[in-house]
Amino acid sequence: MKAPQPERILSPKLKAEDSVLERSLRPKRLDEYVGQDKLKANLRIALAAAQARGEALDHILLYGPPGLGKTTLANIIAAEMGVNLRITSGPAIERPGDLAAIITNLQQHDILFIDEIHRLSRAVEEVLYPALEDFALDIVIGKGAGARSLRLHLPQFTLIGATTRYAQLSPPLRDRFGAVYRLDFYREEDIAAILARSAAILGVQLEEAGRQEIACRARGTPRVANRLLKRVRDYAQVKAQGAVTLEVAVAALALLEVDSLGLDEVDHRVLRAIVDKFGGGPVGLETIAAAISEESDTIMDVYEPYLLQLGFLERTPRGRLATPRAYEHLGIPYPGQAPGADAGPAQGRLWAPRE
Ligand SMILES: Nc1ncnc2c1ncn2[C@@H]1O[C@H](COP(=O)(O)OP(=O)(O)OP(=O)(O)O)[C@@H](O)[C@H]1O
Ligand SMILES: [Mg+2]
Repeated sequence: MKAPQPERILSPKLKAEDSVLERSLRPKRLDEYVGQDKLKANLRIALAAAQARGEALDHILLYGPPGLGKTTLANIIAAEMGVNLRITSGPAIERPGDLAAIITNLQQHDILFIDEIHRLSRAVEEVLYPALEDFALDIVIGKGAGARSLRLHLPQFTLIGATTRYAQLSPPLRDRFGAVYRLDFYREEDIAAILARSAAILGVQLEEAGRQEIACRARGTPRVANRLLKRVRDYAQVKAQGAVTLEVAVAALALLEVDSLGLDEVDHRVLRAIVDKFGGGPVGLETIAAAISEESDTIMDVYEPYLLQLGFLERTPRGRLATPRAYEHLGIPYPGQAPGADAGPAQGRLWAPRE
């Protein structure tokens, strides 16, 4: 087994190599934003209503796994409303004063985007509550007996919070969002549409079958899809005169060790640990993390959501459980199965092209 790789091609988290790419590929308007149809329908109504009333949008919470388009959406919402977007993050706002400095500089109807909002400190959250509810900031001046409180009025602004951990948000903060939108993994056809759009922008000659092959291995995640496209493009350029055909996509993805469902070596280690070391589970997340030397937070945010989505893992009160489907994909007979029953050889082949 290889040691954990920092250079994980399938990580939905933002990597240094993505930043230039993301700037050019990020959709700017709602019409260019592929997929998430329910969310977009609701958002369109909210945008139109706020515009018709000439008011700021309600505060919005976006949550879902990394790389699905939360930051992109915040940018789009600001563009659609025609207002400024101020971007910050939970860990960047260390003290109440940091938050006060930011919100007192906002203009009427501006949008404040706080990424990783579940990481705001309690003290900062307390300052945020009146700002969200009454557009007011309560400042205490002086100390001890002479201290007095002063209320500052703020322009009407919209907070967009983004998080991968809805459950970690404190209930009072959750309650202050007028709209909560969950981003889901994208359907394969939506990822295929995103790839077509990205290929056009990057000038990549992407054939239909090659595009489908990348789409089904991109974990339903636009960031991963774009990154795979970039890597496959490099391969095509060096090995195949530039065109991304099915053969080129399959060969390039095999070289990157991305399997037929978009799982990589770390996903396999997670599943293998549960199956081989813990009899299929249930086993606690911390125990899995220790067994494969990964951070439990990383497993929870990065690997587990997609394995759950595939139906390979189940979350039970006693821990994680590998499902018969996971066994099938690994090519291991499910323990509950009748003797002689086979998991099916084709499914079990790792790193094999999709048939
Ligand atoms: N609906 C979409 N249509 C087209 N491209 C998209 C869409 N959503 C995301 N992308 C692409 O995926 C990239 C990653 O999206 P984004 O940075 O918004 O994800 P995120 O949810 O904010 O991730 P993180 O949780 O890491 O902050 C964007 O740069 C964009 O190119
Ligand atoms: Mg983001």
